[in-house]
Amino acid sequence: MPRIIIDTDPGVDDAIAILMALAAPSLELAGLTVVGGNVPHASCLRNALALLEYAGREDVPVFRGSSRPLSGKFPYSRRVHGRSGLSRPLPEPTVRPQPEGAVDFLATQLSARPGEMTLVALGPLTNLARLERQSPGSLSRAAALVIMGGAVDCPGNFTPHAEFNFYSDPRAAHEVLTCGVPLTLVDLGATRQVAIDREAAAGLHSDHPLGRLAAQLTQDWFEVDDRRERFHFHDPLALAAALEPAVITTRQATLAVETGGAEAGGAEAGASRVTASGGPVALADKVNVERLFALVGGWLGWGG
Ligand code: RIB
Ligand code: CA
Repeated sequence: MPRIIIDTDPGVDDAIAILMALAAPSLELAGLTVVGGNVPHASCLRNALALLEYAGREDVPVFRGSSRPLSGKFPYSRRVHGRSGLSRPLPEPTVRPQPEGAVDFLATQLSARPGEMTLVALGPLTNLARLERQSPGSLSRAAALVIMGGAVDCPGNFTPHAEFNFYSDPRAAHEVLTCGVPLTLVDLGATRQVAIDREAAAGLHSDHPLGRLAAQLTQDWFEVDDRRERFHFHDPLALAAALEPAVITTRQATLAVETGGAEAGGAEAGASRVTASGGPVALADKVNVERLFALVGGWLGWGG
C-alpha cells in the first residue's frame, strides 16, 4: 500500500488533490504538512483540518509548517483562491494540528521509513528546503518526490517568467531542485494540458461525498467570476502522477531556479530553466489527459 505525505497550501486545487488522495483506493495518507502560499499559513492550516474533518478523516495528522519563505514574504494568491483559500465555506474544524512541526515530522518519517514514503509537494517548497537544511539527505530517503511547480520553457502564471509556487519561495525551489535528489516535476507545461471548462464543471456530479465536495469546489470557483473560463488541475495532476506515473511522460533534466537576488521579487525571481539535459529531475512532458480524468473520475465518482 503506497504511503504518501502531502505538503500543501490549500488552496482550491490542493483541496481537490487531497480529496482525491482520501478517495483513492489502497492508499495510506500518512499526513498533511502545511505551508503558507495561496493564502496565509493559518488559513491553509484551517482549510486542511476542515477538509479532513468534513471527510471524517480526523485520523490523518496535520502539521504546522512555514508561514514565510526562506527570505522575504509570501505574495499569496487570494485573487485565484479567495480570501479563505477555498471556494466553498466548510464548517470550522474542531480537530487540532499535531504538536510536532512539519519539518520534524518529515525528518522523522523519512528516516524511520526510508524508501517507503512518497512525498507530494503542492505548494511553495519552503518546508522541503528547511528539511534538507535541518537534516541533509532526508529527501533522498523518500520512495519518490513529486513536485507541482515551475514553468519550464513556457510563460509563468504569476509573473511572465515564474509559476506561483516557485515565485513564492524561489530560494527554496532552487535548493530543492539542485540538491541532487531524484524527483518528478509537474510544471505548468504539463498542468496547462489539464483543465476543465465552466460547462464541464457544471455537469460534474457524484454520489460520493468527497466527489460531491470536489465538484462543488470546482463549480463554486467558476461562480466567483463569470469571466473565468478554465480551472487548471495543477495539484490534482501532480497527485495523480505520484499514484499513477503513467499519466505523464517525462524527460530527464537538470534545472535551476532564478532566486532574483536575496529577496524574492526580482524581475526573474522564480523563473525555472533547464541547465542540462539528463540529470535528477524527471520533467513532465506529455499528459495522458484521458487517463487522468478516468482516474480522477473513478476515485471521486464523478459522473458525466
Ligand atoms: O501555480 C499553481 C500552483 O500554485 C498550485 O499548487 C496552486 O495551488 C498554487 O499553489
Ligand atoms: Ca498548491
